[in-house]
Amino acid sequence: MIDLSVKYLGLELRNPIIVSSSPFTASADKIVRLEQHGAGAVVLKSIFEEQLIGETAFLDRYHDYPEAADYLGAYVRSDYVDSYLDMIAQAKQRTSLPIIASINCVTGGEWVEFARRIEEAGADAIELNIFLLPTDKDQDSDAIERQYLDIVGKITSTVSIPVSVKLGSRFTNILSIVKEIYYRHGKGVVLYNRFYEPDINIDNISLVEGDTFSMAGELRNSLRWIALTSAQVPLIDISVSTGVHTGEDAVKALLAGARTVQVCTALYKHGLGAIDDMLAFMTGWMQQHTFQYVSDFSGMLNQKGVADPDFYERVQYMRYFPKEPVM
Ligand SMILES: Cc1cc2nc3c(=O)[nH]c(=O)nc-3n(C[C@H](O)[C@H](O)[C@H](O)COP(=O)(O)O)c2cc1C
Repeated sequence: MIDLSVKYLGLELRNPIIVSSSPFTASADKIVRLEQHGAGAVVLKSIFEEQLIGETAFLDRYHDYPEAADYLGAYVRSDYVDSYLDMIAQAKQRTSLPIIASINCVTGGEWVEFARRIEEAGADAIELNIFLLPTDKDQDSDAIERQYLDIVGKITSTVSIPVSVKLGSRFTNILSIVKEIYYRHGKGVVLYNRFYEPDINIDNISLVEGDTFSMAGELRNSLRWIALTSAQVPLIDISVSTGVHTGEDAVKALLAGARTVQVCTALYKHGLGAIDDMLAFMTGWMQQHTFQYVSDFSGMLNQKGVADPDFYERVQYMRYFPKEPVM
C-alpha cells in the first residue's frame, strides 16, 4: 500500500503537493475544491504589508486631513485584516487541510503584530514572501540580507506556529542565507518565488508584462540548489516552487531533497485535475520502484546521497559537452 504522506514544517500532510500562494487559494470555497482534488496543503494568497499598515499611497491623498487619513487607514486595514482572518478560520472549519498563511513583507515593522492574529485565527504555519528588490547601487548586499533575516527573526519570536520563507532565486550564496534563516528558527524555505517581470514590445516600442506563468523546464533552475541545501542544511524543510508542472517534476524535486512541491501554473494550464494526475503518477512511480513511503526516496539524490557529488558543482560546459554543433 503506497503512503504519500509527508511531514512539512512539523505538519502532517496527506501528500507532498501544496497549492502555492495564488488566486487559487484566495477564498475558503476555492480551498474546499482543492481539498477535493487531493491537495496536501495550501498556502493562502499573500496579504501584503501595505495592506496591513493601510494603503499609504491612497492615504497620502488625505495628508491635509490627518484625522480623515487616520480614520480611513484604520478602516482599510481592518477590512483587509478581518477578511483575511475570516478566510483562515473558514478554511480551517470547512477542510482538514493544513492552512499556511502568507505575508508579503519588506520590513520588520508594525505589521509583525498581525502575525499573532493569523496564529489566533487558526493558521497552521506562516510563509513569509519576502523580496527586497535591489535598485540602489550604493546599498551593499550584506545590508539587504540582514533585512531579510531581521524580518524572519522578528516573526519567529512573535508566533509559535512554524514559519517558512519563500525566497527569490537571486542570492549570491543561497546556502548561507538558508542556514541563517534556520538559525533564526525558520522551519522551512520555499525555493523559489517567481516574480512579475517587465518585457519589451519591439513593434510599438513599449513596456509590456512578461509571461505570468512558468515554463516546463524551469524546475531545473532549482534542482541543484535543493540538492545542495538539503544536504548542507538538513534540518530545514525545503518546498519547491516554480516549474513543477507534472508528477515527474514532483518526483525529481523530492529525489533532490525537497519535502514538498508547490503548484500554481500547472493548475492554470491543466485545471485542478492536474493535482489528481500528479498524485496518480507519483503512486505509479513509487509502485514501479517498490517504494512504500515518500521518505524511502526523498533526498536520495541530494549532494550527500549521490555517488558523484561533483555533478552538482559542474557549471561550465568546457569539458562536458563534447558534441560538435551542426553548421
Ligand atoms: C497570478 C499569480 C499570483 C500570485 N500571487 C502570489 C502571492 O500572492 N504570493 C506569493 O508568494 N506568490 C504568488 N505567486 C507565485 C506562485 O505562488 C508561484 O511561486 C509561482 O507562480 C511559480 O510557481 P509555478 O511555476 O507553479 O507557477 C503568484 C503567481 C501567479 C501566477
